[in-house]
Amino acid sequence: THVVTEACIRCKYTDCVDVCPVDCFREGPNFLVIDPDECIDCAVCIPECPVNAILPEEDVPSDQLHFIQLNAELVKGWPSITKRKAALPDADEWKNRKDKLDELIR
Ligand code: F3S
Repeated sequence: THVVTEACIRCKYTDCVDVCPVDCFREGPNFLVIDPDECIDCAVCIPECPVNAILPEEDVPSDQLHFIQLNAELVKGWPSITKRKAALPDADEWKNRKDKLDELIR
């Protein structure tokens, strides 16, 4: 599967969802996740993300490994998103910030 990592938090640019052939993105208030049961590992979403938040599971760096489980967990409660929409209003202020996990709204 592919995994949405920390860089997406408080940005949510949503360029990724437009290209997904299997509509496997789910949307929370300030983060997106990928449904690991639906992702077909096509990788077309990877270059779409302006903050490089999406990675193949095997390439997730050690400090981001918890996002693999987090994607799998959060998809259960979040609705599907299949069309791009405006990024969060302060996305550009948050795009280079690290350690944003505390900012995640479930
Ligand atoms: Fe998030 Fe990047 Fe998609 S910021 S919503 S993973 S384009």
